[in-house]
Amino acid sequence: MKLRGEVTVPGDKSITHRAIILAAIAEGEGKIIGWLPSEDCRRTLDAVRAMGVSIQEDRQTLRVKGCGLSGLKELEDVIDCGNSGTTLRLLTGLLSGQPFYSTLTGDGSLRRRPMGRVVDPLRKMGAHLHGRSGSTLAPLTITEKKLSAISYTLPVASAQVKSALLLAGLNAEGTTVITDPYETRDHTERMLEHFGAAFRREGNRCSITGGNQFSGKTIYVPGDFSSAAFLIVAGLIVPDSVITIKNVGINPTRTGLLDILERMGAKIEITDTQTICREPVANIKIVASDLKGADDVGGKIIPRMIDEFPILCIAAACAEGETIIRGAEELRVKESDRIATMARALRAIDVVAEELSDGIRIIGTKRWVGGKCETQGDHRVAMAMKVAQLRTDGEIKLDDEACIDTSFPGFKHFLTQLQYQ
Ligand code: S3P
Repeated sequence: MKLRGEVTVPGDKSITHRAIILAAIAEGEGKIIGWLPSEDCRRTLDAVRAMGVSIQEDRQTLRVKGCGLSGLKELEDVIDCGNSGTTLRLLTGLLSGQPFYSTLTGDGSLRRRPMGRVVDPLRKMGAHLHGRSGSTLAPLTITEKKLSAISYTLPVASAQVKSALLLAGLNAEGTTVITDPYETRDHTERMLEHFGAAFRREGNRCSITGGNQFSGKTIYVPGDFSSAAFLIVAGLIVPDSVITIKNVGINPTRTGLLDILERMGAKIEITDTQTICREPVANIKIVASDLKGADDVGGKIIPRMIDEFPILCIAAACAEGETIIRGAEELRVKESDRIATMARALRAIDVVAEELSDGIRIIGTKRWVGGKCETQGDHRVAMAMKVAQLRTDGEIKLDDEACIDTSFPGFKHFLTQLQYQ
């Protein structure tokens, strides 16, 4: 069996969340073409609808009747963000400056994830915010308060925190200035520019001036690089494969995986690059390659590949020699503790994987056996292990595959569609 053919992966998750939120508070009609109808993005969609925003949907397009910066309505119920950290953190920022009460919660995994990182700076802006465990965990409750601008340097590498503050800044008095020393994903910044908001940026610092309305726009959502990543590694590790993934977002704050894979000897070609709605988009051609381990993955590249850790582990498990990833302690507070979950899953299929406090050490091997793996309900772990299945004759049994719909509905169909005998 080899992988052959061309595919287009579903729309970008991060961009879809942001497009829904910004279109909702724009004035007039906006269109979101190529949105991602995954579980996570639906949480944002449902929440915004519950605030009185009218959104018509079909498989390809969302038509949003923006209600303006001060047109959102008080919700009748709590907002259930499900598994989606982006929904919870971004909406906490947006709702902090609204003149009504709201409560945000989520599933068991989301209620364990750190929220102090958004609560602290939002309180500095004046927000009335409370949550469990000294306001470090959801549910979070927000009551009416006028916000004031602050200058803030992110203490953790988190685009969700940065975006929450930018959204809060839209309704704050004055100019909110945010410094991001980590160069995390910048989709919110690019989209604010696309909408013509009162937004500026210079180097790693950006600012938003509150109270300036912007109008609805059309947004084209590129294919999600983080979804493409699973097919990229699949194409590399299944011998004799050649695949092309079309129309993928290649924003450099997201493509750290490509840099690492190239160093590992991957044959990957980027063609037809264009800029759509301020985001770079391209086709990615992948040719099966003999990979070598990379024993020094760490530092500034980590935020640029944060969601690709599980699938990079699979590439490392197929590579000749050792791969060491460090400086990735943020992975312990994702949908699962991804360092622990991946180390256990790899060991379950007989790969040598040593958990480090801030990363992992993996020794590559030519072929592995099947086994039973626990995903901890983590969509990216589940997809990584499904890609691993392509390199083994034994069966890799997962305790939960339904979680894949969180970010990549139809994933298994995409993999099957590419398979040729
Ligand atoms: C995201 C930011 C990242 C990423 C998540 C999506 C976003 O989280 O892991 O999948 O859309 O802003 P952090 O901001 O917590 O690093």
